[in-house]
Amino acid sequence: MSFFTFVKGRIPYRFKAPLGRLLASRKSLAEDQRLNRRPCSLENRHLEGCRVLPNRLALLELLPKDGVVAEVGVADGNFSAAILDRNHPRTLHLIDLWASSFSGSDDLAFKSVSKRFANEAREDRVQFHRDYSWDAISKLAPASLDWIYLDAGHDYDDVVKDLEVARHAIKPDGFITGHDYVKWSSPNGRFGVVEAVNEFCLKHDFAMRYVTFESNMHHSFAIQRIA
Ligand SMILES: C[S@@+](CC[C@H](N)C(=O)[O-])C[C@H]1O[C@@H](n2cnc3c(N)ncnc32)[C@H](O)[C@@H]1O
Repeated sequence: MSFFTFVKGRIPYRFKAPLGRLLASRKSLAEDQRLNRRPCSLENRHLEGCRVLPNRLALLELLPKDGVVAEVGVADGNFSAAILDRNHPRTLHLIDLWASSFSGSDDLAFKSVSKRFANEAREDRVQFHRDYSWDAISKLAPASLDWIYLDAGHDYDDVVKDLEVARHAIKPDGFITGHDYVKWSSPNGRFGVVEAVNEFCLKHDFAMRYVTFESNMHHSFAIQRIA
């Protein structure tokens, strides 16, 4: 048992949540200062023709149907079900650690998702990948995906890693899409999705094709290589 786990185990239960929030908010403010120093404004050519959509279900309507797709960060599979319903993918790769911060692995959640999509898995339409997102994405066949939806780690470093491997996994005209194109989220703190996505567009010449505009401000994005 590590020293940290030993100390954590001795903190009275009623202090754990407020202490966690305090540490998270300190970490978020430090991350905010670090990320705000990064220049990441998109230029006109990254936004030309970009469509604003009411929500991510409307985004699904515009993404390719009958294709090969990956959802990265699945949780209980609610959005996976929407993808299956609306886009009828030939193959849907479902990628998640299904891990909880308490036990390290969340077999109940994994079992429940496996059960939910058991029929599709039997037909090989759904494939499960229980791994770190960047490792699982990098094992997919290069240039095989019509689109990918990133919704796993939301810290800057995690999103940068996912985007870099997603670039190789999508077809030349494929889309990288994802959730939470937003800087702050309550109660999660500072996200790094905006900086990671914008820097990626500037570095690799991708343009924003769609952005969603939910009232809860948990926007989704879809980017594609500039032809
Ligand atoms: C916000 S939830 C996904 C929600 C889902 N996309 C939806 O819309 O219903 C994020 C999930 O990502 C997973 N996750 C977070 N970081 C990850 C990582 N680095 N690798 C794999 N899975 C990760 C978590 O286990 C969690 O289930």
